[in-house]
Amino acid sequence: MSSRIAVVPGSFDPPTLGHLDVIRRAASLYDELHVLVVHNPGKEAMLPIAQRQSLLEQSIAEAEIEGDVIVASWSMGLLVDYATDVGAGVLVKGIRSQVDVAYETPMAIVNRHLAHVETVFLLPDPAHALVSSSLVRQVASLGGDVSPFVPPAVARFLDTGARGI
Ligand code: PNS
Repeated sequence: MSSRIAVVPGSFDPPTLGHLDVIRRAASLYDELHVLVVHNPGKEAMLPIAQRQSLLEQSIAEAEIEGDVIVASWSMGLLVDYATDVGAGVLVKGIRSQVDVAYETPMAIVNRHLAHVETVFLLPDPAHALVSSSLVRQVASLGGDVSPFVPPAVARFLDTGARGI
């Protein structure tokens, strides 16, 4: 299995500047990068999967991220099934804290056992180390300004959504 193709999976609900930082850096490391919106059964979603995919596409285009970046979504089963289908040998995840290490480690071990897919962790740019989708959801739901934490396309969408336009 090629390790030159990688997948950046996540809920991306919504995409944040931290996500974009990981995507940009992963795109520079691999020949082909799949940014995959995956349904997380453990989380109640704010945005439909198609909306998250569209916001990621706009954000990646506006940020002029270089490289072969494909945005897709997956709700057909295991994440590693998608990775295997596209010939990816690596999953790339951003890791901000010990909490993330504890959350990600079991998934990385399970994914490797399921399909020999390795997980590579990237440390965040300190500027984005405390940004999370859940905090953005909370701030947005209470009418706060999320523009410091999310790509402009997401800020525009959440702002117009909050005003009911
Ligand atoms: O952004 P998130 O919510 O932390 O992403 C978690 C996600 C969606 C990548 C994870 O829940 C996942 O991989 N779901 C797909 C189902 C799967 O393959 N489960 C078995 C391995 S953990």
